[in-house]
Amino acid sequence: MFRLFLVLINWTGKWFPNAPQELASEAGGVTKDITSNAITNQPTQPKESGRVAMGIENPDCDDAKHGLEIDFDPYNVTHSDVFMCLEPKAEYKGDYNMDAVITEYNVPSAYVANHKCMNSSIEYAERIPSYGTHRPLWPRYGEYRYVPPQRWLHNSEHGAVIALYHPCANKQQVELLKNIVKKCLYRHVITPSQLPSKDRPFALVTWHAILEFSVLERNIVESFIRKYALKGPEQTHRDGQYDHLLLEAAEVVSTIDDSVLCPNKQRD
Ligand SMILES: *[C@@H]1O[C@H](CO)[C@@H](O)[C@H](O)[C@H]1NC(C)=O
Ligand SMILES: *[C@@H]1O[C@H](CO)[C@@H](O)[C@H](O)[C@H]1NC(C)=O
Repeated sequence: MFRLFLVLINWTGKWFPNAPQELASEAGGVTKDITSNAITNQPTQPKESGRVAMGIENPDCDDAKHGLEIDFDPYNVTHSDVFMCLEPKAEYKGDYNMDAVITEYNVPSAYVANHKCMNSSIEYAERIPSYGTHRPLWPRYGEYRYVPPQRWLHNSEHGAVIALYHPCANKQQVELLKNIVKKCLYRHVITPSQLPSKDRPFALVTWHAILEFSVLERNIVESFIRKYALKGPEQTHRDGQYDHLLLEAAEVVSTIDDSVLCPNKQRD
């Protein structure tokens, strides 16, 4: 059995999505490196003004149907590798000597993530984002052929667990992971992703925490979900509007609010 490491990352970003001088540009969609603009010692009240409303379909901003190609364009061959293994003979087998790692970001409770319309791109400072700017409309819960991070980050803000697997990861382990996550909680999004590394081709993401592992261990996955799920700042079980490439909608496991996480003892 491998060991589990915990890495704590202190907050070096901004307290709020916008530094005062940035408020104007944010609505117009200038993406900045969030670590480059630290305002660390001045907690003030979060600003809601100027934030695009969430969960309201607005064709001028985001209707979850048009302009999606800015995050992911399935008709563009150079994007197609996001859910395809381009080195199929090199299936990542996983390494039992590779420890599982939890990275926890110390996101201040007053931090409010911004919403951006589809007319501007969103990039992240971290390889796997676990907080930050995202799209106003979030994905319906369930398993996808592919969902971009600009969408699933919003679900994690609502308390969801996002399960990412590299498309080259071992297929049996991928199926096992999907099965565990689906039976742990309703509020989940499962998608292949190029964000996990070759060494640790699996990742679970919640608001401010990421578990990465090389070989699937049910205990580690379930403990992570029990500890870190339902911790986002905007708790709601309300389902999303985005369902592009949805394969299987999530089912309620305990209650719609996931009152019991991973309720059933299971064997592999
Ligand atoms: C994007 O659309 C929103 C909503 O219509 C608008 O407020 C904003 O100014 C636009 N930004 C750009 C960069 O065009
Ligand atoms: C396809 O995606 C690439 C990379 O994002 C981009 O540079 C290129 O312009 C896109 N091609 C088309 C036809 O949209």
